Amino acid sequence: MEQTQTPNNQYAVIGYPVEHSYSPEIHRIFAQQTGENISYELLPIEPKNFEAAVRKFAATGGKGLNVTVPHKEAAFKLSSVLGPEAQQAHAVNTLSLLSTTEVRGDNTDGIGFLRDLTQNNHLELNGKRVLILGAGGAARGILPPLLDSDFAELVLANRTVEKANELVELFNATGSLFVCPFDELGDMGSFDLIINATSAGLKGESLSFPRSCLSSWSFCYDLAYSTKQTPFVQWARDHGAGNAVQGWGMLIEQAAESFAIWRDVRPDTAPLLQQYTNR
Ligand code: ATR
Repeated sequence: MEQTQTPNNQYAVIGYPVEHSYSPEIHRIFAQQTGENISYELLPIEPKNFEAAVRKFAATGGKGLNVTVPHKEAAFKLSSVLGPEAQQAHAVNTLSLLSTTEVRGDNTDGIGFLRDLTQNNHLELNGKRVLILGAGGAARGILPPLLDSDFAELVLANRTVEKANELVELFNATGSLFVCPFDELGDMGSFDLIINATSAGLKGESLSFPRSCLSSWSFCYDLAYSTKQTPFVQWARDHGAGNAVQGWGMLIEQAAESFAIWRDVRPDTAPLLQQYTNR
């Protein structure tokens, strides 16, 4: 049945660049599945125009925005009300435009990551040695659920150690999050879960960290995703990791959580997971 769009059902993903985003397709499928009548577009907006673009979208009937690189911290600053995960991460990926002035900011990246890891991939974090590579925006989003889990050890390795230390301070995680540069990882033995939160692969650069971090039972999770194999997943498979997956599941689960915040109905992610992870 063809759906007509009403002005107060407008959503979009705002980013720069954003043309490559899968969010419009994902949200269109969620809307069809749940019978929700929404429109969803791409908003390519430069950082200097971010706030003006959000206000204009709200003033013209926009109800919600997914926020992607490089605007997640600007969205945090613009939010007048914050969800608990956004408050922790100091970053927002979901804006609900409650009125032209009142904006609620949530962060569904961590929940999406945790769901994909534990429900779709059946991985338990209890008692696990976990390694996060990278300390940028992607690491921020996944740190809240990881810090809340019952891990045995959580190591944050970054090329620039100061940036990793800033995250420890931001999350008030002294004592639970151990920071080091990549070259010190050689002395640490293998990890049960290794998460690539760097942007190296996206820029076509290779990551160099010790092979000894991997064992045959290591689960490697790349927050990045691609229709081809990502360099990190390829590296992990070539070096005998137990399993290695791209971040398609997290992308779909975080989108479902945003959709549920906006529309108060939870879409079923299974059909999309099947479609995207088998590409
Ligand atoms: P954002 O915050 O938008 O996610 P970012 O600040 O550029 O992006 O962070 C990306 C992460 O990938 C950082 O941890 C970055 O390391 P630095 O803090 O040292 O810059 C990491 N990164 C990017 N390219 C990398 C490479 N070639 N090797 C290792 N780490 C890399």
